[in-house]
Amino acid sequence: MKSVRPLIRPLVQRLEAYVPGEQPKVQGLIKLNTNENPYPPSPAVLRAVKAGVDARLRLYPNPTSDPLRRRLARLHHCEPRNIVVGNGSDELLALATRAFVEPLPDGRASHARLPHASKVQFFTPSYSLYPVLADIHSAGRAPVPLGPDFGFPTAGGSGRGGRRTAGALDPDAALTFVTTPNAPTGRGYSMRELDALCRSLRGVVVLDEAYVDFADEHALSLALKYPHVLVTRTFSKAYALCFQRVGYAVGHPDLIAALHKIKDSYNVNGLGQLAALATLDDLPYYRASFQRVRATRARLCAALCDLGFEVFPSQANFLLARPPGLPAERWLHELRKRKILVRWFSSPSLRDYLRISVGSETETDALLDAARAIRTLGEKGAGRCGGSRAGRGKA
Ligand SMILES: Cc1ncc(COP(=O)(O)O)c(C=O)c1O
Repeated sequence: MKSVRPLIRPLVQRLEAYVPGEQPKVQGLIKLNTNENPYPPSPAVLRAVKAGVDARLRLYPNPTSDPLRRRLARLHHCEPRNIVVGNGSDELLALATRAFVEPLPDGRASHARLPHASKVQFFTPSYSLYPVLADIHSAGRAPVPLGPDFGFPTAGGSGRGGRRTAGALDPDAALTFVTTPNAPTGRGYSMRELDALCRSLRGVVVLDEAYVDFADEHALSLALKYPHVLVTRTFSKAYALCFQRVGYAVGHPDLIAALHKIKDSYNVNGLGQLAALATLDDLPYYRASFQRVRATRARLCAALCDLGFEVFPSQANFLLARPPGLPAERWLHELRKRKILVRWFSSPSLRDYLRISVGSETETDALLDAARAIRTLGEKGAGRCGGSRAGRGKA
């Protein structure tokens, strides 16, 4: 048979896929590369999932996760029609792109002047899935560089109601993704900053709160206050359910109905729905787990600073750190030799850094032992903690 390549759409042929963090096939590695929770789901959640493995497996699950939506609505003091549940929050980010952004008419994702309706806007650096979602949909990527210390840029144009927008933000972009707290930087944004940002934009704004349970503040109320704002959350990180793939979005019923209209019929698997429901019945267990992660984050931040790392204050369950002595990519390999996986990004603004997930106490000890050994390989660099770009801060 001749090549089947011509059968694949040119857009898909050109596409550079999202690269997930490595999921190792060998045993015994310490995984600090994909921001999973070091602590397991609560015993009650494990019991609920096991109890769900019975003859029901033959049946389709609830197509719109209604019991879970009702439970989430109670938690967030809103109505079930304010909530859509997804196969992880990634699915909801993809659905938002498909529901709110027009593909470019000629199918080319690189226009000099992008029409507002085809713009997927996001800050850089932030979650590297957003540009891929724009590409898949044949929409336009509109990256906006963050300011110093990864804060929102200040100078700007004229937005909603004459308010000024941040930096080069387009107030009329069809869709703006904001990761808060940000990934991979860990930087948190205040409610006041996020409120001002949302007010300055006229297109749909998605506040991606994947890591918010580890932060001091959240902005869920903005999804109930402004009709053009959605907040996405996930059970993956703070609730230790990556394996089950459950996330949700909160927002205006019309936006939520649009996402419901285009989702797959049975997008969330039945065991995932059971696991998420049981999680919401056991929140005190998880609050204790967030506190442990936050305490370890503070210890790790301080210890890395003492070893000469430049560490950014983090509101998430990971730290962005510039290692001393050797290039960050070399650190990645040296850590891997010692069976520790962390994440390194090749983009110019991040290539000097490692993103390190906060692990258990034992994993943290192992990481610090390895870091002490690797540091002796390179020339000893002095730490820059407490400086203007990074500090011990509130980790
Ligand atoms: C910023 C951000 N948003 C969303 C997600 C997706 O999470 P999930 O699809 O597991 O809910 C991730 C996963 O790494 C993330 O880092």
